[in-house]
Amino acid sequence: METLDELAERAARLILKARGETVAFTGAGVSAESGVPTFRGRDGLWKRFRPEELATPEAFERNPRLVWEWYRWRMEIIARARPNPAHLALAELEKLGLLRCVITQNVDGLHREAGQQCLVELHGNIWRARCTKCGHRVVFREPPREIPPRCPRCGALLRPDVVWFGEPLPEQEWRQALQLAREARVLLVIGTSGVVYPAALIPTIAKENGAKIIEINIEKTPITSIADIHIEAPAGKAIQKILEKIKQITRTPI
Ligand code: OAD
Repeated sequence: METLDELAERAARLILKARGETVAFTGAGVSAESGVPTFRGRDGLWKRFRPEELATPEAFERNPRLVWEWYRWRMEIIARARPNPAHLALAELEKLGLLRCVITQNVDGLHREAGQQCLVELHGNIWRARCTKCGHRVVFREPPREIPPRCPRCGALLRPDVVWFGEPLPEQEWRQALQLAREARVLLVIGTSGVVYPAALIPTIAKENGAKIIEINIEKTPITSIADIHIEAPAGKAIQKILEKIKQITRTPI
């Protein structure tokens, strides 16, 4: 079995060879080390809460207060979270011209806070809300005090500007993600269980279009079978290691 060092070196060489045509596809696992709970797995949110009661349009219609309370609780956790070494290493790869863009399923905004310039948020952003009547968008700087919050324009209910189960992904973001996946020479798949569609199509689309797949996860997932490199390690440690290898390789004259 290859060591983390060897796997990271192979990943680094693939990323260098891709000459900036590397794209990252991230999920909740990338923010786990920032203290943001993931959805699945042992301590996952969906172990304690039922998605159909909190993350569907029907749940919101039935009980907007309950849904908002759950989102406010998550906003409070996220407000305390800071980008971790995984977010920071991805932002650095972008600065080095080696990472084209990050496609994320996360709503926490931590990639942006880490300095990521090109970011596609497939499932929305928890800090944004939109009016259920006039569509007006509001950005929160802190969790709302009044629950459920109301539209400053028309007074109707605001809803979190995130994607719920049964809802389509935002059109422009999905189109952009598809294009990035098709054009990528390397796709870094980090901290996602790869079971929520359509987002989970991204690795397959990239693979079918010739990309090498590097997966970083603390366990195996349905994506592992198509991965060219599977690094079973926490995201922060693995990506920092890849970055370190990239720096070593580019410093060493051939
Ligand atoms: P999940 O919670 O389904 O999966 C998190 C993944 O991260 C798992 O595969 C873990 O093994 C892995 N993981 C945990 N800690 C890690 C670490 N430190 N380093 C690396 N990997 C780690 O989260 P997502 O795949 O993002 O959608 O879930 C997809 C969607 O399902 C979410 O966007 C959300 C959820 O329901 C909506 O709300 C629409």
